[in-house]
Amino acid sequence: MIDKNEILEKIEKATSTSELESLNVEVLGKSGSLSLALRELGKMTPDERKVRGAELNQIKTEIISAMDTKKSILELSEINKKLESDKIDVSLNKAEDSKGHIHPLTQVREELLQIFGSLGFRLVSANDPDIEDDFHNFTALNVPPFHPARSMQDTFFVEGGNLLRTQTSSVQIREMERTGVPVKVITMGRVYRSDWDATHTPMFHQIEGLYVDKNINMSHLKGCLIDFLKAFFEVDDVPTQFRPSYFPFTEPSAEMDIRCSLQNGELKIGANGNRWLEILGCGMVHPNVLKAVGVDPDEYQGFAFGMGIERLTMLKYGIPDMRKCFETDTRWLSHYGFEADDIPNMITDLSKK
Ligand code: DAH
Repeated sequence: MIDKNEILEKIEKATSTSELESLNVEVLGKSGSLSLALRELGKMTPDERKVRGAELNQIKTEIISAMDTKKSILELSEINKKLESDKIDVSLNKAEDSKGHIHPLTQVREELLQIFGSLGFRLVSANDPDIEDDFHNFTALNVPPFHPARSMQDTFFVEGGNLLRTQTSSVQIREMERTGVPVKVITMGRVYRSDWDATHTPMFHQIEGLYVDKNINMSHLKGCLIDFLKAFFEVDDVPTQFRPSYFPFTEPSAEMDIRCSLQNGELKIGANGNRWLEILGCGMVHPNVLKAVGVDPDEYQGFAFGMGIERLTMLKYGIPDMRKCFETDTRWLSHYGFEADDIPNMITDLSKK
Protein backbone atom coordinates (compact mmCIF):
# COMPACT_ATOMS: atom_id res chain seq x y z
CA MET A 1 0.00 0.00 0.00
CA ILE A 2 1.15 3.41 -0.78
CA ASP A 3 0.82 5.98 1.98
CA LYS A 4 0.45 9.37 0.39
CA ASN A 5 0.52 11.33 3.63
CA GLU A 6 3.64 9.61 4.83
CA ILE A 7 5.40 10.43 1.55
CA LEU A 8 4.25 14.05 1.62
CA GLU A 9 5.48 14.34 5.18
CA LYS A 10 8.91 12.94 4.24
CA ILE A 11 9.11 15.45 1.40
CA GLU A 12 8.23 18.26 3.76
CA LYS A 13 10.90 17.17 6.26
CA ALA A 14 13.72 16.77 3.70
CA THR A 15 16.64 19.02 4.60
CA SER A 16 18.73 18.85 1.42
CA THR A 17 18.31 18.43 -2.33
CA SER A 18 20.22 15.15 -2.16
CA GLU A 19 17.83 13.79 0.48
CA LEU A 20 14.96 14.84 -1.76
CA GLU A 21 16.60 13.11 -4.70
CA SER A 22 16.80 9.77 -2.81
CA LEU A 23 13.17 10.16 -1.84
CA ASN A 24 12.33 10.70 -5.50
CA VAL A 25 14.09 7.44 -6.42
CA GLU A 26 12.37 5.63 -3.54
CA VAL A 27 8.90 6.63 -4.70
CA LEU A 28 9.03 7.46 -8.40
CA GLY A 29 12.12 5.52 -9.53
CA LYS A 30 11.86 2.33 -11.63
CA SER A 31 11.33 0.17 -8.57
CA GLY A 32 9.92 2.96 -6.45
CA SER A 33 6.82 2.32 -4.34
CA LEU A 34 4.52 4.32 -6.58
CA SER A 35 5.87 2.77 -9.76
CA LEU A 36 5.30 -0.71 -8.28
CA ALA A 37 1.76 0.23 -7.30
CA LEU A 38 1.09 1.45 -10.84
CA ARG A 39 2.41 -1.81 -12.20
CA GLU A 40 -0.11 -3.68 -10.02
CA LEU A 41 -2.91 -2.07 -12.07
CA GLY A 42 -2.36 -4.61 -14.84
CA LYS A 43 -3.55 -7.39 -12.60
CA MET A 44 -6.88 -5.72 -11.78
CA THR A 45 -10.27 -5.91 -13.44
CA PRO A 46 -11.08 -2.97 -15.72
CA ASP A 47 -13.41 -1.46 -13.17
CA GLU A 48 -10.96 -1.72 -10.30
CA ARG A 49 -8.24 -0.36 -12.55
CA LYS A 50 -10.28 2.66 -13.46
CA VAL A 51 -10.84 3.69 -9.85
CA ARG A 52 -7.40 2.74 -8.56
CA GLY A 53 -5.66 4.19 -11.62
CA ALA A 54 -7.29 7.57 -11.16
CA GLU A 55 -6.39 7.48 -7.48
CA LEU A 56 -2.77 6.64 -8.08
CA ASN A 57 -2.39 9.27 -10.80
CA GLN A 58 -3.82 11.86 -8.44
CA ILE A 59 -1.30 10.78 -5.77
CA LYS A 60 1.52 10.89 -8.32
CA THR A 61 0.59 14.45 -9.39
CA GLU A 62 0.47 15.63 -5.78
CA ILE A 63 3.83 14.02 -4.95
CA ILE A 64 5.56 15.45 -8.03
CA SER A 65 4.22 18.90 -7.29
CA ALA A 66 5.25 18.69 -3.60
CA MET A 67 8.72 17.53 -4.69
CA ASP A 68 9.07 20.41 -7.17
CA THR A 69 8.06 22.99 -4.60
CA LYS A 70 10.37 21.56 -1.95
CA LYS A 71 13.19 21.33 -4.48
CA SER A 72 13.10 25.02 -5.32
CA ILE A 73 12.96 25.95 -1.63
CA LEU A 74 15.97 23.76 -0.80
CA GLU A 75 17.94 24.95 -3.84
CA LEU A 76 17.43 28.54 -2.88
CA SER A 77 18.57 28.01 0.68
CA GLU A 78 21.59 26.03 -0.50
CA ILE A 79 22.61 28.85 -2.86
CA ASN A 80 22.23 31.35 -0.06
CA LYS A 81 24.37 29.24 2.25
CA LYS A 82 27.07 28.99 -0.42
CA LEU A 83 27.02 32.73 -1.04
CA GLU A 84 27.31 33.31 2.68
CA SER A 85 30.39 31.11 3.04
CA ASP A 86 32.06 32.23 -0.20
CA LYS A 87 31.74 35.94 0.32
CA ILE A 88 34.89 38.12 0.09
CA ASP A 89 36.09 39.42 3.42
CA VAL A 90 37.00 43.01 2.67
CA SER A 91 38.48 43.44 6.13
CA LEU A 92 41.42 41.17 5.18
CA ASN A 93 44.86 42.80 5.19
CA LYS A 94 45.98 44.05 1.81
CA ALA A 95 48.45 41.94 -0.13
CA GLU A 96 51.88 42.58 1.31
CA ASP A 97 54.20 45.05 -0.41
CA SER A 98 51.84 46.09 -3.13
CA LYS A 99 53.35 49.59 -2.95
CA GLY A 100 56.24 50.67 -5.12
CA HIS A 101 59.59 51.72 -3.72
CA ILE A 102 62.06 54.40 -4.64
CA HIS A 103 65.30 52.90 -5.90
CA PRO A 104 68.25 53.70 -3.60
CA LEU A 105 70.09 55.35 -6.51
CA THR A 106 67.15 57.60 -7.19
CA GLN A 107 66.98 58.48 -3.51
CA VAL A 108 70.69 59.34 -3.39
CA ARG A 109 70.54 61.32 -6.61
CA GLU A 110 67.80 63.37 -4.99
CA GLU A 111 69.83 63.89 -1.81
CA LEU A 112 72.86 65.00 -3.86
CA LEU A 113 70.73 67.42 -5.79
CA GLN A 114 69.34 68.96 -2.60
CA ILE A 115 72.77 69.35 -1.02
CA PHE A 116 74.62 70.78 -4.01
CA GLY A 117 71.59 72.88 -4.88
CA SER A 118 71.80 74.48 -1.44
CA LEU A 119 75.53 75.09 -2.01
CA GLY A 120 74.66 77.09 -5.12
CA PHE A 121 75.37 74.56 -7.86
CA ARG A 122 73.11 74.42 -10.91
CA LEU A 123 72.25 71.00 -12.38
CA VAL A 124 73.05 70.69 -16.06
CA SER A 125 73.01 68.34 -18.96
CA ALA A 126 70.43 65.65 -18.55
CA ASN A 127 70.75 65.58 -22.34
CA ASP A 128 74.51 65.37 -22.76
CA PRO A 129 75.46 62.31 -24.79
CA ASP A 130 76.47 58.93 -23.37
CA ILE A 131 78.20 58.24 -26.69
CA GLU A 132 80.93 60.84 -26.48
CA ASP A 133 83.71 61.92 -28.77
CA ASP A 134 87.36 61.61 -27.92
CA PHE A 135 87.81 65.38 -27.59
CA HIS A 136 85.27 65.85 -24.76
CA ASN A 137 86.07 62.65 -22.88
CA PHE A 138 89.87 62.81 -23.12
CA THR A 139 91.73 65.34 -25.25
CA ALA A 140 90.13 68.54 -23.92
CA LEU A 141 90.57 67.16 -20.40
CA ASN A 142 94.33 67.21 -20.91
CA VAL A 143 94.52 63.57 -21.94
CA PRO A 144 95.87 63.73 -25.52
CA PRO A 145 96.03 60.61 -27.72
CA PHE A 146 98.60 58.09 -26.50
CA HIS A 147 98.67 59.69 -23.04
CA PRO A 148 99.24 56.87 -20.52
CA ALA A 149 96.37 58.18 -18.35
CA ARG A 150 93.95 56.79 -20.96
CA SER A 151 94.65 53.33 -19.62
CA MET A 152 93.36 54.36 -16.16
CA GLN A 153 89.85 53.90 -17.56
CA ASP A 154 88.99 50.70 -19.40
CA THR A 155 87.07 52.24 -22.28
CA PHE A 156 84.36 50.91 -24.61
CA PHE A 157 85.14 52.32 -28.04
CA VAL A 158 82.43 52.50 -30.68
CA GLU A 159 82.55 53.16 -34.39
CA GLY A 160 83.77 56.45 -35.82
CA GLY A 161 86.38 57.13 -33.15
CA ASN A 162 83.67 57.67 -30.51
CA LEU A 163 83.36 55.98 -27.14
CA LEU A 164 80.93 55.41 -24.27
CA ARG A 165 81.89 58.19 -21.91
CA THR A 166 84.06 56.93 -19.08
CA GLN A 167 83.48 59.92 -16.82
CA THR A 168 81.09 62.82 -16.40
CA SER A 169 84.13 65.12 -16.56
CA SER A 170 83.25 65.44 -20.26
CA VAL A 171 80.40 67.70 -19.18
CA GLN A 172 82.93 70.20 -17.73
CA ILE A 173 84.03 70.80 -21.31
CA ARG A 174 80.51 70.77 -22.77
CA GLU A 175 79.18 73.23 -20.21
CA MET A 176 82.08 75.69 -20.56
CA GLU A 177 81.63 75.53 -24.34
CA ARG A 178 77.94 76.29 -23.87
CA THR A 179 78.05 79.07 -21.29
CA GLY A 180 81.66 80.10 -20.85
CA VAL A 181 82.80 81.21 -17.40
CA PRO A 182 82.09 81.90 -14.58
CA VAL A 183 80.34 78.57 -14.10
CA LYS A 184 79.13 76.66 -11.04
CA VAL A 185 77.43 73.43 -12.01
CA ILE A 186 76.92 69.79 -11.18
CA THR A 187 75.97 67.04 -13.55
CA MET A 188 74.85 63.48 -12.88
CA GLY A 189 74.66 60.67 -15.34
CA ARG A 190 75.67 57.31 -16.69
CA VAL A 191 79.28 56.40 -17.42
CA TYR A 192 80.76 53.16 -18.79
CA ARG A 193 83.84 51.06 -18.19
CA SER A 194 84.69 47.47 -18.90
CA ASP A 195 84.45 46.22 -15.29
CA TRP A 196 82.39 43.58 -13.49
CA ASP A 197 82.59 42.61 -9.83
CA ALA A 198 80.78 43.30 -6.55
CA THR A 199 81.82 46.96 -6.58
CA HIS A 200 82.06 47.60 -10.34
CA THR A 201 79.48 47.37 -13.11
CA PRO A 202 80.04 48.23 -16.79
CA MET A 203 77.53 51.05 -16.45
CA PHE A 204 77.37 53.21 -13.36
CA HIS A 205 76.60 56.79 -12.38
CA GLN A 206 78.79 59.72 -11.46
CA ILE A 207 78.22 63.15 -10.08
CA GLU A 208 80.61 65.83 -11.25
CA GLY A 209 81.05 69.37 -9.95
CA LEU A 210 82.76 72.35 -11.56
CA TYR A 211 83.21 75.83 -10.14
CA VAL A 212 85.25 78.29 -12.18
CA ASP A 213 85.46 81.99 -11.40
CA LYS A 214 88.04 84.65 -10.63
CA ASN A 215 89.98 83.92 -7.43
CA ILE A 216 88.65 80.45 -6.71
CA ASN A 217 91.23 78.53 -4.72
CA MET A 218 91.75 75.24 -2.95
CA SER A 219 90.19 76.36 0.32
CA HIS A 220 86.89 76.82 -1.55
CA LEU A 221 87.22 73.27 -2.76
CA LYS A 222 87.88 71.96 0.73
CA GLY A 223 85.07 73.94 2.36
CA CYS A 224 82.56 72.87 -0.26
CA LEU A 225 83.38 69.16 -0.09
CA ILE A 226 83.55 69.04 3.71
CA ASP A 227 80.12 70.68 3.88
CA PHE A 228 78.85 68.20 1.34
CA LEU A 229 80.12 65.13 3.21
CA LYS A 230 78.71 66.31 6.55
CA ALA A 231 75.31 66.87 4.97
CA PHE A 232 75.33 63.65 2.97
CA PHE A 233 76.43 61.33 5.78
CA GLU A 234 74.45 63.33 8.35
CA VAL A 235 77.36 63.80 10.77
CA ASP A 236 78.51 67.09 12.35
CA ASP A 237 81.99 66.09 13.20
CA VAL A 238 83.86 64.15 10.57
CA PRO A 239 87.60 64.30 9.96
CA THR A 240 88.57 64.30 6.29
CA GLN A 241 91.89 64.25 4.53
CA PHE A 242 93.02 65.37 1.10
CA ARG A 243 95.56 62.90 -0.19
CA PRO A 244 97.76 64.01 -3.12
CA SER A 245 96.78 62.12 -6.25
CA TYR A 246 96.89 62.38 -10.00
CA PHE A 247 94.18 63.32 -12.47
CA PRO A 248 95.22 64.77 -15.83
CA PHE A 249 92.55 67.48 -15.70
CA THR A 250 93.43 68.92 -12.28
CA GLU A 251 96.58 70.36 -10.75
CA PRO A 252 97.02 69.87 -7.89
CA SER A 253 94.87 66.74 -7.68
CA ALA A 254 93.65 65.03 -4.55
CA GLU A 255 91.56 62.16 -3.34
CA MET A 256 89.36 62.90 -0.39
CA ASP A 257 89.09 60.40 2.43
CA ILE A 258 86.66 60.32 5.31
CA ARG A 259 87.09 58.87 8.81
CA CYS A 260 85.11 55.74 9.50
CA SER A 261 85.09 52.41 11.29
CA LEU A 262 83.72 48.97 10.64
CA GLN A 263 81.71 47.61 13.57
CA ASN A 264 80.31 44.11 13.20
CA GLY A 265 80.42 44.51 9.47
CA GLU A 266 78.58 47.82 9.64
CA LEU A 267 80.22 50.98 8.40
CA LYS A 268 80.13 53.98 10.74
CA ILE A 269 81.18 57.36 9.39
CA GLY A 270 82.45 59.91 11.89
CA ALA A 271 85.11 61.17 14.29
CA ASN A 272 85.32 57.94 16.29
CA GLY A 273 86.51 56.00 13.30
CA ASN A 274 89.87 54.30 13.07
CA ARG A 275 90.44 54.15 9.33
CA TRP A 276 90.22 56.26 6.18
CA LEU A 277 87.76 55.59 3.39
CA GLU A 278 88.25 57.04 -0.06
CA ILE A 279 85.23 58.98 -1.26
CA LEU A 280 86.01 61.11 -4.27
CA GLY A 281 88.54 62.68 -6.63
CA CYS A 282 89.05 66.41 -6.93
CA GLY A 283 91.48 69.19 -7.67
CA MET A 284 92.06 72.62 -9.18
CA VAL A 285 91.12 72.70 -12.86
CA HIS A 286 94.25 72.27 -14.97
CA PRO A 287 95.19 75.36 -17.06
CA ASN A 288 95.18 73.19 -20.19
CA VAL A 289 91.51 72.34 -19.62
CA LEU A 290 90.61 76.02 -19.41
CA LYS A 291 92.69 76.73 -22.53
CA ALA A 292 90.87 73.93 -24.41
CA VAL A 293 87.63 75.88 -24.08
CA GLY A 294 89.18 79.29 -24.71
CA VAL A 295 89.35 80.49 -21.12
CA ASP A 296 92.42 82.40 -19.92
CA PRO A 297 93.87 80.52 -16.91
CA ASP A 298 95.60 83.66 -15.68
CA GLU A 299 92.24 85.28 -15.24
CA TYR A 300 90.07 82.33 -14.15
CA GLN A 301 90.68 79.42 -11.84
CA GLY A 302 88.38 76.74 -10.53
CA PHE A 303 87.93 73.47 -8.82
CA ALA A 304 86.32 70.23 -9.92
CA PHE A 305 85.34 66.98 -8.29
CA GLY A 306 83.80 63.69 -9.28
CA MET A 307 82.49 60.58 -7.57
CA GLY A 308 80.49 57.43 -8.13
CA ILE A 309 76.86 57.59 -7.08
CA GLU A 310 76.63 53.80 -6.55
CA ARG A 311 79.63 53.91 -4.22
CA LEU A 312 78.06 56.70 -2.14
CA THR A 313 74.80 54.75 -2.02
CA MET A 314 76.47 51.52 -0.94
CA LEU A 315 78.41 53.31 1.80
CA LYS A 316 75.47 55.27 3.15
CA TYR A 317 72.86 52.52 3.01
CA GLY A 318 74.99 49.42 3.56
CA ILE A 319 74.42 47.77 0.19
CA PRO A 320 76.97 44.98 -0.27
CA ASP A 321 76.73 44.13 -3.97
CA MET A 322 76.47 46.91 -6.51
CA ARG A 323 75.33 44.60 -9.31
CA LYS A 324 71.99 44.13 -7.54
CA CYS A 325 71.23 47.80 -8.20
CA PHE A 326 70.55 46.87 -11.81
CA GLU A 327 68.84 43.48 -11.48
CA THR A 328 65.29 44.84 -11.11
CA ASP A 329 64.54 42.35 -8.34
CA THR A 330 61.52 43.65 -6.46
CA ARG A 331 62.48 41.73 -3.28
CA TRP A 332 65.79 43.60 -3.25
CA LEU A 333 63.99 46.83 -3.97
CA SER A 334 61.49 46.43 -1.16
CA HIS A 335 64.39 45.72 1.21
CA TYR A 336 66.76 48.51 0.18
CA GLY A 337 64.29 50.88 -1.48
CA PHE A 338 62.56 53.84 0.11
CA GLU A 339 58.93 54.46 0.73
CA ALA A 340 57.36 57.67 -0.34
CA ASP A 341 53.75 58.63 0.10
CA ASP A 342 53.87 60.70 -3.00
CA ILE A 343 56.48 59.23 -5.27
CA PRO A 344 55.98 61.44 -8.35
CA ASN A 345 56.40 64.63 -6.34
CA MET A 346 59.45 63.43 -4.56
CA ILE A 347 61.53 62.78 -7.62
CA THR A 348 62.95 65.83 -9.27
CA ASP A 349 62.27 65.84 -12.95
CA LEU A 350 65.80 66.24 -14.26
CA SER A 351 64.60 67.17 -17.73
CA LYS A 352 63.06 70.35 -16.31
CA LYS A 353 66.15 71.51 -14.44
N1 DAH B 1 86.72 61.68 -13.59
C1 DAH B 1 87.39 61.06 -12.47
C2 DAH B 1 87.13 59.56 -12.53
O1 DAH B 1 86.21 59.16 -13.16
C3 DAH B 1 86.88 61.61 -11.16
C4 DAH B 1 87.33 63.02 -10.97
C5 DAH B 1 88.51 63.28 -10.34
C6 DAH B 1 86.55 64.07 -11.43
C7 DAH B 1 88.95 64.58 -10.14
C8 DAH B 1 86.99 65.39 -11.26
C9 DAH B 1 88.19 65.61 -10.60
O2 DAH B 1 86.29 66.43 -11.68
O3 DAH B 1 88.61 66.90 -10.43
O4 DAH B 1 87.86 58.82 -11.94
